[in-house]
Amino acid sequence: MAAVDARTIIASVRDGKGLSERQAKWFADGLASGAVSDAQAGAFAMAVLLNGLSDDGRVALTRAMRDSGEVMSWDLPGAVVDKHSTGGVGDSVSLILAPALAACGVFVPMISGRGLGHTGGTLDKLEAIPGCRTELTEEIFRAVTRDVGCAIVAASDRLAPADRRLYAIRDISGTVESIDLITASILAKKLAGGIGALVLDVKCGSGAFMKTAAGAERLARSLVTAANGAGCKASALITDMNQPLGCSAGNALEILEVMETLTGEAVNQALWDVAAALGGEVLALAGVAPDPDEGADRIDTVLSDGRAAEIFGEMVAAQGGPLDFIDRYPDRLPSAPVMIEILAGRSGYISGIDTGALGMEVVRLGGGRMRAGDRINPSVGFSRLAMIGDRMAPDQPLGFVHAANAADAERATAALRDAYHISDEAPDEPPLILDRIG
Ligand code: URA
Repeated sequence: MAAVDARTIIASVRDGKGLSERQAKWFADGLASGAVSDAQAGAFAMAVLLNGLSDDGRVALTRAMRDSGEVMSWDLPGAVVDKHSTGGVGDSVSLILAPALAACGVFVPMISGRGLGHTGGTLDKLEAIPGCRTELTEEIFRAVTRDVGCAIVAASDRLAPADRRLYAIRDISGTVESIDLITASILAKKLAGGIGALVLDVKCGSGAFMKTAAGAERLARSLVTAANGAGCKASALITDMNQPLGCSAGNALEILEVMETLTGEAVNQALWDVAAALGGEVLALAGVAPDPDEGADRIDTVLSDGRAAEIFGEMVAAQGGPLDFIDRYPDRLPSAPVMIEILAGRSGYISGIDTGALGMEVVRLGGGRMRAGDRINPSVGFSRLAMIGDRMAPDQPLGFVHAANAADAERATAALRDAYHISDEAPDEPPLILDRIG
């Protein structure tokens, strides 16, 4: 059998000869153990980015990265499923969907991420709830998943360590933007969670990493085929990110919107509809519903009758948050000292939103990180944002900014005005769900 070492593996990918199962395993184990150097990891990532991998190579890398650490297994009286979003602005669907799925009888050990670039992160949002923790021991993660039906946590050091190392090196070597590497990275962590079915929400538009429908479709196909190849049932929806999904962007503000939707106090229909569509997919994949439409109906039911809200409250309490969160969430969430209404200033229709710029302004307000390790201010962001197609009068608000001080609020006001385009003609409203890859 031919020798396997970092140099020959890199040369094989560089010369378009592909990545075998054995090579992928050696390289992923070497990333985890340190046998592969930073220079070799960077060269490997660049070779993959420039040459691409075949479907088989991508599956091999996904499996090998998944198996570079612990792979969880579950013994629960129901299917174990998860959802992943490629990242957007005002996208708090995971927080609605995890308890809704649990209310439908499946288990959701959701391993989530923090904000990345201009996008918000589910963990940062959940941590906006005072006391709520996402870095749980495996024992507590298992207990919350079993007892409540869902838990939302950060990946532990033991899950997919090859990805943690390779991701940090990609971040500083211009090799993040490879569909093969993104696929293996996302799936390695999710599949190490021991799930049987996964639904992927691939975002597309000005606030997404994939700006075009063609790019989003390529990523969605790559994720679905690699997940299936690695033994996990998967499907993907490509959903619009040319405007924020909810009407709020910012950690505590998004939790408020989630609570208003879960409790029926003020439902955000876009969040609800995307949660129902994604939930329908994964319930069908898990064999719990006969098809995605019936699955979506079940999600509608548990959102309408309050069972999802109840489970969200139980999850928050089990993860260290207030015991009375469902009843007292407006008092429990932090609020920013400065809140300003941002007026449209002219009449017309909202015809476009630079959603990436809006997300970046949330980061600048302190709602995300400019540098690794920055502390997040959970209370800042935007709320009651106008949506594409809304008809505005000059004295109507584009939204409200929530800031730590007046100077931040002033800068964010200018940024929000720049991000919104108003025209005389009513635009076509973008569809929420663009495509399904199953
Ligand atoms: N999220 C990940 O986990 N990995 C990537 O490569 C990109 C987004």
